[in-house]
Amino acid sequence: MTASRPRVVVLHGPNLNLLGSREPEVYGSMTLAQLDASLASLGEALGVEVECHQANGEGALIDHLHAARGRVLGVVINPAAYTHTSVALYDAIKAIEVPTVEVHLSNTYRREPFRQRSLTAGACVGAIIGLGADSYRLALRYLVDLAELDPNS
Ligand code: DQA
Repeated sequence: MTASRPRVVVLHGPNLNLLGSREPEVYGSMTLAQLDASLASLGEALGVEVECHQANGEGALIDHLHAARGRVLGVVINPAAYTHTSVALYDAIKAIEVPTVEVHLSNTYRREPFRQRSLTAGACVGAIIGLGADSYRLALRYLVDLAELDPNS
């Protein structure tokens, strides 16, 4: 029997299902399916399974976080607009005790003032912001490195 590869969960928050057509001058022209496919192939090169989910609701994102508990080596999350509002997502990220990296496609510090505060980043090991799809790719690489460096993983 072949052992299954360790897993990383990627969570995309509200409106990210519209990537490619949503404000392409801000978010780029890559669709969500293309982004997920590029993360899956990077994951393969890094020796991990990448499981991607998108949800428009806070509750569904929290359910995905709970489902990751004890099952994956890390979570990459773009909480989208919930970044700026959600104590519930902050609490869920804390609760699952899985290393989580927050990512953003756009540089939120160059945008409206309400985007310049993240509630959720404080629950994460770090945040990568403004590098487009590379924000996700770098987060994935980081989590794989972190797991390899941790003798308990
Ligand atoms: C975003 C930035 C958020 O402020 C915004 O609400 C999004 C996308 C990003 O990836 O740049 O939906 O998280």
